[in-house]
Amino acid sequence: MKITVVGTGYVGLVTGTCFAETGNDVTCVDIDASKVNKLSSGQITIYEPGLEKLFERNLKEGRLSFTTSLEDGIREAEVIFLALPTPPGADGSADLSFVLNVAAHLGKIMTGYKVIVDKSTVPVGTAEKVTAAIAQNCKIPFDVVSNPEFLREGVAVDDFMKPDRVVIGTMSERARKVMGELYAPFVRQGNPILFMDEKSAELTKYAANSFLATKISFMNEIAILCEKLGADVDMVRRGIGSDDRIGKRFLFPGIGYGGSCFPKDVQALVKSSEDADYEFKILNAVMDVNEKQKLFLLPKIKAFFENNLNGKHFALWGLAFKPNTDDIREAPALYIIDALVAEGATVTVFDPEAMPNVKHVLGDKITYADHQYACLDNADALIIATEWSVFRTPDFHKISASLKNKAIFDGRNLFEVSRMKELGYHYESVGRIPAML
Ligand code: UDX
Repeated sequence: MKITVVGTGYVGLVTGTCFAETGNDVTCVDIDASKVNKLSSGQITIYEPGLEKLFERNLKEGRLSFTTSLEDGIREAEVIFLALPTPPGADGSADLSFVLNVAAHLGKIMTGYKVIVDKSTVPVGTAEKVTAAIAQNCKIPFDVVSNPEFLREGVAVDDFMKPDRVVIGTMSERARKVMGELYAPFVRQGNPILFMDEKSAELTKYAANSFLATKISFMNEIAILCEKLGADVDMVRRGIGSDDRIGKRFLFPGIGYGGSCFPKDVQALVKSSEDADYEFKILNAVMDVNEKQKLFLLPKIKAFFENNLNGKHFALWGLAFKPNTDDIREAPALYIIDALVAEGATVTVFDPEAMPNVKHVLGDKITYADHQYACLDNADALIIATEWSVFRTPDFHKISASLKNKAIFDGRNLFEVSRMKELGYHYESVGRIPAML
């Protein structure tokens, strides 16, 4: 099938590459000429495990190409995916101007029937708006479909190639047939393609992310309660997770969710609810809990240093909002750094992928280490903010040889408390009884 993907950001590039991988002919369109040049010459613009290999192969074999011209890009396309940014506006609702501008332009240049697919996460009612934006300039028949993505950063290729489900929102039989054919290779193991109306598809995406964010905030509150009552959140997590109705996944407490999706989508659903004259009480609490959770470790750190962080120096492992990505959007580490610096402390950081992005934002406010152990030199304590695999079984002798105090504040519960006790560490984590020096 001939496909166009408009927008070569994270979602667009993964979508385009994965559709090329199943033999489709994919053209990606972006207004950013330097990005298009880079991509055309084989330089990938995002970090996503497994993507580069597919990108290079499909580019080489001619199934994947890039252009800045929307008109050239869509000429032969049967399906056009809109994977454009929908940043939160000042009031928290998604800004649709990129999507609607492209839709209006498409209306002017389309020459035959096309299926236009909203791939970006967009509020309920957007398919209607996109339809209207195209129709104002266009007499040719077309269908607009809502097909939300459920990609997790770090495993996006796998999520795309083997989705738990594919949600397709359209009442048009013609569009359902086209979309069903396009996705057939991805659901051969038997996972469902769920056809529904546009609005239900749009809401499904927000409901899924908001539900997952709720699970996390719920567990973060259980962790707080565990500490107060002397229980262990790992036990409680296992105890509840083995009930199929609850499920084992997404029950890990930590220092809050971040990234480009959860914070934005929860906020947008709260806003959509308000617009529909309904106060979504649970989600307001989810956001509130998450904001506070980002600084969960701070009182513990302050208590250890007798409420005076002035002149203290900290090593911080992990900057990305989660492992296997260089994404630092809403990353808890950044909030911790700000708070430490505001208290007069200095910070040296290490992250396997995200340091260039942090340098861009924080510059010389902090120092950057080339290695996770070099990060520890002269530090008063180690703070862990992201659960990268390389942090999971560190050389504890190296750590204690460098740190001034044998103190680790772990926002991701990487180590067994009993082991840390044996090693003689002051070890504080989330929702577990600490090992005290
Ligand atoms: C998420 C959704 O999973 C995905 O379906 C959607 O399309 C986009 O948003 P992503 O933001 O890439 O994907 O990350 P995810 O792996 O879901 O983690 C989100 C956040 O939740 C991270 O900050 C992570 O640290 C946190 N988290 C996750 C927890 O704190 N505890 C958990 O048990 C799971």
